[in-house]
Amino acid sequence: MTDTITIRTPDDWHLHLRDGAMLRAVAPETARHFARAIIMPNLVPPVVTGADAAAYRDRILAALPEGSGFTPLMTLYLTEDTDPADLAQAHADGLITAVKLYPAGATTNSASGVTNFDKVRPVLETMADIGCPLCVHGEVVDSDIDIFDREAVFIERVLDPIRRATPGLRVVMEHITTIQGVEYASEGGPELGATITTHHLVINRNHILAGGIKPHYYCLPVAKREEHRLALRRAATSGDPTFFLGTDSAPHTDANKLLPCGCAGCFTATNTLSILAEVFEQDGALDRLESFTSLNGPKFYRLPPNDSTITLTKGDPVSYPDHIDTGDGPVTVFDPLMPLHWQVST
Ligand code: NCD
Ligand code: ZN
Repeated sequence: MTDTITIRTPDDWHLHLRDGAMLRAVAPETARHFARAIIMPNLVPPVVTGADAAAYRDRILAALPEGSGFTPLMTLYLTEDTDPADLAQAHADGLITAVKLYPAGATTNSASGVTNFDKVRPVLETMADIGCPLCVHGEVVDSDIDIFDREAVFIERVLDPIRRATPGLRVVMEHITTIQGVEYASEGGPELGATITTHHLVINRNHILAGGIKPHYYCLPVAKREEHRLALRRAATSGDPTFFLGTDSAPHTDANKLLPCGCAGCFTATNTLSILAEVFEQDGALDRLESFTSLNGPKFYRLPPNDSTITLTKGDPVSYPDHIDTGDGPVTVFDPLMPLHWQVST
């Protein structure tokens, strides 16, 4: 029986760190186990210019524990007014790693996102020229499209046309949740990648809705049917370099989750690696955990994998706090509803 596994230090290719007191509380949770993370720009107001990204990066670095080697990989929030020259300069300076596309209204703090995709065409062409990846929140926002169909419809109506119109644009389908997402990503060639969250490997829509509503399992894109979860498990554990970890750890205070109109987001930074080791072991794929957490992402982003390693050890069930305290109030840690036996020991 395998009871220890050593892998290159993981990276998180989709992370929300927020700002202020929340940033100071959640940044150490990720920095404990991860070397780098792609930092989402959906602050209020959003991170739209190179100067915004530089200032936010400094606030993140200041929030890290003393001696932490964690590197935030910054992104810009694409708006219809994004200046291609500012973006290209920020990319050339190494200040940003990617740009994030939110369809306006698709999710938390996405009001400044894109409504008319023709308006961002020049920016996307610049990005293709300079090799700056586009991270995409892949859901349409049309009120007549069922929320469970919004990812599949986005692929057909928005993503595929954008990719055809912009050859050479490197795209990450963020937090895919459907069979259609898995299939489209796996057929997209080396210029297309896809992140998968920890929680979408564990929950389906019944966990949110059956037997009483569970706000802490509500996130966007919303978890789908079991057959979709199983397709995500197969993709994540396959070793296919298209798929890599983006936790989408998205902290909201309990006060903001437990409302008549509660916020979307699951906070998984604290226990993600224990959950992933359990999932990969259940699927007989522990030998492919490293590909998913530590190798496929750097390969897509054309960065070297981390030199350092972490070791996970299997033993008696590990317990994690059910919430972390922040200056803004408690944030509930994602409950995977199963005992976790693996923990990071180094
Ligand atoms: C994210 C957030 O809270 O910022 N929420 C979520 O449910 N994932 C936004 C996002 O990534 O969609
Ligand atoms: Zn997110």
